[in-house]
Amino acid sequence: MSQTLVIGANGTVGSPLVDLLRQRGVAVRRATSRTPQAADEVHLDLVKQQGLDAAFRGVKQAFLLSPPGHTNQDALLIPVIDAAKRHGVEKIVLMTAMGANLDPSSPLRKTELHLEGVGLAYNIIRPNWFMQNFNSYWLHGIHNERTIALPVGTARGSFIDARDISAVAAALLMRHDLDNRDFDLTGATALNHEEVARILSSVTGLNIKFQDITPKVMRPGLLAAGLPPDYADFLLIILSFFKMGYAERTTDAVQTITGQAPRSFEEYARYYRSAWLD
Ligand SMILES: NC(=O)c1ccc[n+]([C@@H]2O[C@H](COP(=O)([O-])OP(=O)(O)OC[C@H]3O[C@@H](n4cnc5c(N)ncnc54)[C@H](OP(=O)(O)O)[C@@H]3O)[C@@H](O)[C@H]2O)c1
Repeated sequence: MSQTLVIGANGTVGSPLVDLLRQRGVAVRRATSRTPQAADEVHLDLVKQQGLDAAFRGVKQAFLLSPPGHTNQDALLIPVIDAAKRHGVEKIVLMTAMGANLDPSSPLRKTELHLEGVGLAYNIIRPNWFMQNFNSYWLHGIHNERTIALPVGTARGSFIDARDISAVAAALLMRHDLDNRDFDLTGATALNHEEVARILSSVTGLNIKFQDITPKVMRPGLLAAGLPPDYADFLLIILSFFKMGYAERTTDAVQTITGQAPRSFEEYARYYRSAWLD
C-alpha cells in the first residue's frame, strides 16, 4: 500500500495530523529523528541528513516541516524535496510560517521556491503564531511568575490552534483540486497579549498577566532555555515583526479548506486548561 510520510510526526502539528489521516484510512509512515519504536516509524534525521532514501521508499505523498531551533531550514529541507522527487513522490505539503514569503532570500522562502519549481504537486501552508506556544514555550513564565513576558507591546496576532493546521494539512493531502497553491493560515480573530492573559486567567482562575519586555531582557532567558544564539536572535526578530503588526491579518483558509471554522482562543484554553494548573 502506498504510504503518506509525515515528517515531524511526533510534534504539535504532526501528531494530530497522523491521527486525522489514520481516521480517514490513510497508511501513514511517521518519521522520527530518534530510534524508531514502532513498525510505522522510520528514522529520518534532517540535521544529519540521514535516512532520506529509506523514508521515501514507497511513499506517494509527504508532509514536511523544519524542526524548530534551526535557522538554515533550506539546508535541512531542500534535500528532502529532492529525495521525494527522486523516489517518484506525487505531492508534498510543506509547512513554513506566515511571513516567510516576504523575503526571497530567507531560508524558508528559498525552500518554498525550490518546491514550487521542482515539478511535484504541492501545497505550501504558512501558519501564524500557534496558540500552543502558551502551553509550551511560554508555559514556564506562566507557571513560575503567572506572567507572559514578551517584547510585543499591544500588537495583535491572529493565533491559530495547531490542530486546525493539522486539519488543513490532512485535507490538502487528501484532495487535489487545490494543488500548487499556497495558503496563510490564521485563527478567526486577532488578540493582543493582554487579551490572551485575560482569557487564560478566566479559564484557569489564575491571575495571569502580560508584561511587555525588551528583546534585550528576553534574550538571556532564551539562551538559558537552551536555544542556540542564532535561533534566539531569529525568534527576537520575528517577535519584532509581531510588534509591528505583521501577525494581525486574518484569512479564511482554515474554513475554506476544512469546511470548519478555526478554533477560538477560548476553546483552545479550555482544552489545555490543565497545562497551566499542573
Ligand atoms: N510555534 C509557532 O508559533 C509557529 C508558527 C509558525 C510556524 N511554525 C513552524 O512550525 C515548525 C515546528 O512545528 P511543530 O511545532 O509541530 O514542531 P514540534 O512540536 O517542535 O516538533 C518537532 C518535530 O520534529 C521532529 N524532529 C526534531 N528534530 C528532528 C530532526 N533532526 N530530524 C527530523 N525530525 C526532527 C520531532 O520528532 P522526533 O523527536 O521524533 O524526531 C518532532 O516531531 C517550525 O518549522 C516552525 O517554524 C511555528
